[in-house]
Amino acid sequence: MPLPKAELHLHIEGTLEPELAFELAERNGVRLPYADTEALRGAYRFDDLRSFLDLYYGLMAVLRTERDFEDLANAYLARAAAQGVRHAEIFFDPQAHLSRGVALGTVVEGLWRALERSEAVHGVSTQLIMCFLRDESAASALETLDAAKPYLHRITGVGLDSAEVGHPPVKFREVYEAAAALGLRRVAHAGEEGPPEYITEALDVLGAERIDHGLRCMEDPALVARLVRERVPLTLCPLSNVRLRAVDALAEHPLPAMLDAGLLCTVNSDDPAYFGGYAGDNFDAVRTALGLDEDRLRELARNSFTASFLEHDEERRAR
Ligand code: ADE
Ligand code: ZN
Repeated sequence: MPLPKAELHLHIEGTLEPELAFELAERNGVRLPYADTEALRGAYRFDDLRSFLDLYYGLMAVLRTERDFEDLANAYLARAAAQGVRHAEIFFDPQAHLSRGVALGTVVEGLWRALERSEAVHGVSTQLIMCFLRDESAASALETLDAAKPYLHRITGVGLDSAEVGHPPVKFREVYEAAAALGLRRVAHAGEEGPPEYITEALDVLGAERIDHGLRCMEDPALVARLVRERVPLTLCPLSNVRLRAVDALAEHPLPAMLDAGLLCTVNSDDPAYFGGYAGDNFDAVRTALGLDEDRLRELARNSFTASFLEHDEERRAR
């Protein structure tokens, strides 16, 4: 039996497996620039975050209808459940769909069709976190938040993702202030490729309650001490870090040192269709490559619930 766990760092678009991508391409009459699923999988060799994002945004072309988003979410939830995930806080990227002419309502309502039945069908409770693309403008993020107003009863929080370097958190101060005023929870990717200062800024300027990745905090002992003192959760994604070359090899991942330092670490899958595994696969990989014992694995699973926004559910339903 896999350990029961919560998944807190999961991009739903990153769960698009090649088989489903081709099925949706056929359904929607979209031509993909790959001969077949094998050729597509063969293209999953990334040098860094940017090279991954280029392919990732391109493949989203197959996602067009509510049914597509429903099928995508259902496929993820079934896989996650099989690996012990009992609660999932799911990121989505509205701007990556709006820019292709897919309405926000199509994305949210499509995902919701799967999410509203998830506890009954998969035994997985869910929340949605709407992410802003940090390589787009702050004005675009504000417009996106505005467009989301009819759907806020479905959305728990906001996040910040996409190409990190050169796009510091401070760029999104205003939109995070507006999100907080709307009662939304706040998380942000920081310290994946970007410097430790972005983590500090995400906390101080954006009011981020969790840091997605946060890997590079280890370069700044004072920041580590602060994250420990303030119990700021970090949503680490070990297999992603290897595939996007944030670390050279899984055996060199700083997770054990981070746990030893007292950081509130969680283990997640990020974009499992691209990086070689779902939440349970990430747990298995760190156990094998880093020699984490059962106590450490149980600590990681416990941390995932501690760091979740589960208690937020009642408030959201009341909105
Ligand atoms: N979008 C999807 N996966 C991402 C990652 N690992 N970092 C930033 N943005 C992302
Ligand atoms: Zn991510």
